[in-house]
Amino acid sequence: MSTQSSWEEGNFSRFICTANHGFAPYAQEELRRTFGAVKSTVLVPGEILLAGLPVAEEEVADKLWAEYPTFLRHIQPVQFQENTEDSEQSIEKLIAFVLNHKELTGTPVVLQVRKTEGSFWQENAASLKQLLTEKLDELGCEWVVRDAEYVISVFAANDMLYAGVSRPEQNLSDWSGGAVRFQKEDGQISRAKFKLLEAEQTFGIDFTSFHKALDIGAAPGGWTSFLLERGLEVTAVDPAKMDATLLASPKLTFLKKNAGDVRFREGEFDLLVCDMSWSPKLMSRLVSDLLYSLQPGEQRLLP
Ligand SMILES: C[S@@+](CC[C@H](N)C(=O)[O-])C[C@H]1O[C@@H](n2cnc3c(N)ncnc32)[C@H](O)[C@@H]1O
Repeated sequence: MSTQSSWEEGNFSRFICTANHGFAPYAQEELRRTFGAVKSTVLVPGEILLAGLPVAEEEVADKLWAEYPTFLRHIQPVQFQENTEDSEQSIEKLIAFVLNHKELTGTPVVLQVRKTEGSFWQENAASLKQLLTEKLDELGCEWVVRDAEYVISVFAANDMLYAGVSRPEQNLSDWSGGAVRFQKEDGQISRAKFKLLEAEQTFGIDFTSFHKALDIGAAPGGWTSFLLERGLEVTAVDPAKMDATLLASPKLTFLKKNAGDVRFREGEFDLLVCDMSWSPKLMSRLVSDLLYSLQPGEQRLLP
């Protein structure tokens, strides 16, 4: 079926689509490649789009799962849309829309509420969530944070309220907006550690299966601490300072150097991780120049 006829036959669905900040244009290109055409409106510049797709709502997630998009991290269906000129009335209409979803009664449900900075709802998203939870009491569902059967997704934009009800897997991620949140630990060296925790969880990487890692752009040491916790020996390279608590570790070798100025034995490592804040092109060159130090056939390069 051609894309043109899909639009005409009403085989059409709308989703709020989220990417990491600055990556929405790439996410839009992923949608275009998967669905042939996208009609989109920006809700949050560089990050969140309202996209019209020439396919039925139920087919969207399956098609995306098959492609495994890199930049598009979350979608939520738009089945309800209301102008918020009269905000109280629009919220009442939203409540009525959700109460119509009888399948939610008696099941574990997560309510995910997000808003734009200039939203008609001027308080924070948590207070809107609180209000909606109270008003949806008669639904008789079990409110949960994780492992829900259904997700109610609400997006309070500048002058529009959007909502949809879906299964978590239909949203690509069961985290609100796809933003995985980890709890900060006592003594955690840097937030950068969350990136490896997310990679571990999302891609199911068993870091304990590696033995010796090269961590370039390692300071202050969040990734290094993560790798040490997983039992690896780590060689960390960075001209900046590493956190003092790590330096006593017998499994850590720290080279206070630029990654372009270090040499290793061939095949010395079985994992190379790089979190360098530099031009992606120059960073790729530096990493390529160090590939000889990875064991042949066993090469693992992250991210
Ligand atoms: C985002 S921080 C890394 C954070 C670290 N992964 C963590 O978990 O704490 C980026 C680091 O890249 C380092 N860097 C930038 N250019 C570098 C280069 N040419 N060689 C080595 N490190 C470099 C910076 O000094 C900085 O410490």
